[in-house]
Amino acid sequence: MKNIDWKNLPFGYVKTDYNVRCYFRDGKWGELEVCSSEQITMHMAATCLHYGQAAFEGLKAYRGKDDKVRLFRWEENCKRLKLSAETILMEPVPEKIFKEACFKVVQLNSEYIPPYGTGGSLYLRPLLIGTGAKVGVSPADEYLFMIFVTPVGPYFKEGFKPVKMQIVKDFDRAAPMGTGHAKVGGNYAASLRAGDRAHKEGFAASIFADAKTKTMIDEAGPANFFGIKDGKYITPDSSSILQSITNMSIRQIATELGLTVERRHVMLDELSTFEEAGACGTAAVISPIGLIQDRETGKEYVYSKDGQPGPWSTKLYKYLTGVQYGEMEDKFNWCEEVRLT
Ligand code: PLP
Ligand code: COI
Repeated sequence: MKNIDWKNLPFGYVKTDYNVRCYFRDGKWGELEVCSSEQITMHMAATCLHYGQAAFEGLKAYRGKDDKVRLFRWEENCKRLKLSAETILMEPVPEKIFKEACFKVVQLNSEYIPPYGTGGSLYLRPLLIGTGAKVGVSPADEYLFMIFVTPVGPYFKEGFKPVKMQIVKDFDRAAPMGTGHAKVGGNYAASLRAGDRAHKEGFAASIFADAKTKTMIDEAGPANFFGIKDGKYITPDSSSILQSITNMSIRQIATELGLTVERRHVMLDELSTFEEAGACGTAAVISPIGLIQDRETGKEYVYSKDGQPGPWSTKLYKYLTGVQYGEMEDKFNWCEEVRLT
């Protein structure tokens, strides 16, 4: 194991020993390559640099109670990377290559997987970019797929403690018929100004209202939103949000725990009726929201008065992380062991 302060890991970049890469050239994918350099060399007219042909993924490997290493739902990330690739006309990565890359990069960097009990995990960041040179606006004919890893702690410094979020209506992250459902770089560029302002104003993230009507909740920063009331788990249905794999899993857990799941438009007007609110994603895990401010009206909605997460958020969190760290039965078969020898 590396000498790292595992318990105080932020969600950030830590250099590891290896990354893996695969190139699409001359109409076909090559062999997976192991690389120890953190640099990429590419043509200055590469389409990822000019025309945003760039998509990424995020998934985690966990060191469990039994010391086994588990990768969470990698097939879903592979499917979503395909959707992202198709959305911006890139070459999709075959599942065989995606799987080999995930398992290999975890095995090669096993000394960076945080020990069980520290709350950390190894974050895998698959990246697919257009590297072929084009000056006219058109898709590249060469692509690079790579994965690097980094040991991480909680995305929001609060960890599993309520955060404050801010609803924005004067910036849009994504349009209804745009690319918001895909994990492409441009969506994150579009979210930066609102996010930066929210941070400066004391919030952990901005919650985007839907771009068309500004009456509904869309995306909660780098995560999906959920609210809980009257025994119901309610989460937005929108064409411009990412189909979160964490949210998909939490919906199954919610049903298992006896909540009714509703995936539908969530009106801003409804915010005052929720008993609990939260954001969910691979990086965010489940981040309870203690307060939401509507920046336009100044109105505040409070979900935690004592600085503690609500009872349902806590149950969902314990179940999800329990499966990921091998403390609970994986009855949905979400985890696959990465053998280290
Ligand atoms: N929404 C956005 C904008 C994200 O970047 C992420 C992170 O991947 C999510 C939602 C959550 O998705 P997932 O649970 O698949 O990580
Ligand atoms: C993730 O949860 O994997 C994300 O993509 C969030 C953010 C770091 C972009």
